[in-house]
Order: sequence, then structure tokens, then C-alpha cells
Amino acid sequence: MKRACVIGWPVEHSRSPLIHRYWLKHYGIDGAYEKEAVPPGEAEAFLRSLAERGYVGANVTLPHKLAALKAADAADEAAYAIGAANTLWLDAAGKLNATNTDAHGFMTNLNEQAPQWNKERRSVLVIGAGGATRAILYGLLQSGAAKILLTNRTRSKAETLASYFGPMSKTADWIELIDWKKRDAAVAECGLIVNTTSLGMIGEPPLDLDLAALRDDAVVADIVYTPLMTPLLAAARNRGRTTVDGLGMLLHQAVPGFELWFGVRPEVTKELRAQVTASLGAA
Ligand code: ATR
Repeated sequence: MKRACVIGWPVEHSRSPLIHRYWLKHYGIDGAYEKEAVPPGEAEAFLRSLAERGYVGANVTLPHKLAALKAADAADEAAYAIGAANTLWLDAAGKLNATNTDAHGFMTNLNEQAPQWNKERRSVLVIGAGGATRAILYGLLQSGAAKILLTNRTRSKAETLASYFGPMSKTADWIELIDWKKRDAAVAECGLIVNTTSLGMIGEPPLDLDLAALRDDAVVADIVYTPLMTPLLAAARNRGRTTVDGLGMLLHQAVPGFELWFGVRPEVTKELRAQVTASLGAA
């Protein structure tokens, strides 16, 4: 029986076991998916001993995504570019490989829920400059987004991301920094707005962004999924705009790992989404 796990600190609230156990059952695979609470400082050693612990691979959540990249013998371009890994697997030779599937998860979901997002090749407003922002920027870069307007409360963090990801683009000035105080003025020229901050999450203040000038065809996406309908998405929905919630990213980022460990490319179904949504309601 093949076994995989998710490591994190804390790991109790991770939805990954629910997702992977759903697929194991759905595809009739004799496998298991566990939760492993691994304290800070112990992640690298834990991941180096995956085989001894009887695992074929692992998902990695906060705060271990950097340690996961360090622990791996080899990593793919996405993990290197994002600077963090969330999925590891042992190959036939026992080598520990790493990837980062967050960009894939975000873009797959965006393309599914709002395939028109880049049709007019308008700018994308990205709000935030944290760990999740790196994956979103990488995904947008890979997907040919025309131009990024990047804004963050702490400007220096946005500057760091702009100087790192900007040169990876074929377009000069691919990322333009927008002053946090001027973010409302950027809304009018965008075809897509993405919140990558924790604002809007249960217990956090909402993201303060004036959508009055939002284009008719603009899409608004949030990576927050508790609640599913964040105040930002509700405001966009009230204006009749297409919205993309954070749950789709969570579900789609899980697909490549499952395939690597268990050999079946799983589908993100309505039933899976309903089950995870129900568990969020119970949280
Ligand atoms: P992660 O790596 O998980 O994304 P993070 O690095 O702490 O977490 O990033 C959180 C993001 O939410 C940052 O962009 C942060 O802005 P700062 O860089 O200025 O801290 C943003 N954020 C969190 N609380 C915020 C608030 N009250 N107002 C504005 N931005 C906020």
C-alpha cells in the first residue's frame, strides 16, 4: 500500500487529507494519506527520512515550504522560480524530488472558471507580496499575462518581487509597482484583480479596494477560501462580475501530487468541491 502525507505546523486544519482520501476512495486505490505535525526546524530531517517512514511522497504546508525545497535532491523549474516546494516524491532510485503546484492550481482554476481573463490582454492587479504572491506571479508569467500592476502595504516587499520576477518576463517593465495608497486608481485598467493577501479571511479585516471603476469584463479572484465568498468577491459579484474563489486553487494544486504518488491523474469534481466546502462550514 502506498502512503503519502502532509506536513505542517500546525497541520490540524489542512484540507489535504480530505481531498486525497476522497480520490483514493473514488478511484479504489489501496493507499493512505496522513497528517504529520512537524515542528519548525525538523522539516528537512523529516522529509529526508520519508522512505524510512514508509511514505512515497508528501505535501508541505506552512511554515515548511522553504525547507522542503532545501531538503529535495532535485527540484523543477516552478519550485526553483517560486523559491518554495509544496509537493515531494521519491522516484524509483530513491531520489527526493520537489515541485510547487500552487501556480498550476491557481492558473488551472482561473482558466476553468474565467477563461476570458486574458482575452483583451489587459493588466492584472496583484495585491500582496507574501509567499502565495510568488506562486501567483509565476503562474501569470507562465500564462502570458500582459502586464502586472503589483501593490503591497509594505512597498519594499513588492519591490523585491518585482526585481525577481520582472526580468523573467520577455516584456520590459512587466511588473509596475503601484503605491498602496493609489491601488483604487489602478482598478479601471485591469482585466483581472487577484487578492493574494490574508485580508478578507475570517478574523481578518476585509481588503479595502474600491471597485467602482471595475470594467464590465473584469474578473476578480481571491486566494482566501475561508470564507468562500470574501467581502471582495461579494462586492464584485454584486456588480455582476465574474469571480473566482480560493477553493479551486486548493483543489487543483493537489492534482499533480496525487498522480505522482498513486499513478492516477484525479479529477476535481463538483462532489469533491461540495465535500470540502461542507468541511469549511464546519471549521
Ligand atoms: P504568506 O507568505 O502566507 O503569503 P505573508 O508573507 O505574511 O504570508 O503575506 C501576507 C500578505 O498579506 C502580505 O502581502 C501582507 O502585507 P505586508 O507585506 O505589508 O505585511 C498582507 N497583509 C496582511 N495583513 C494586512 C493588512 N492589515 N493590510 C494590508 N496588507 C496586509
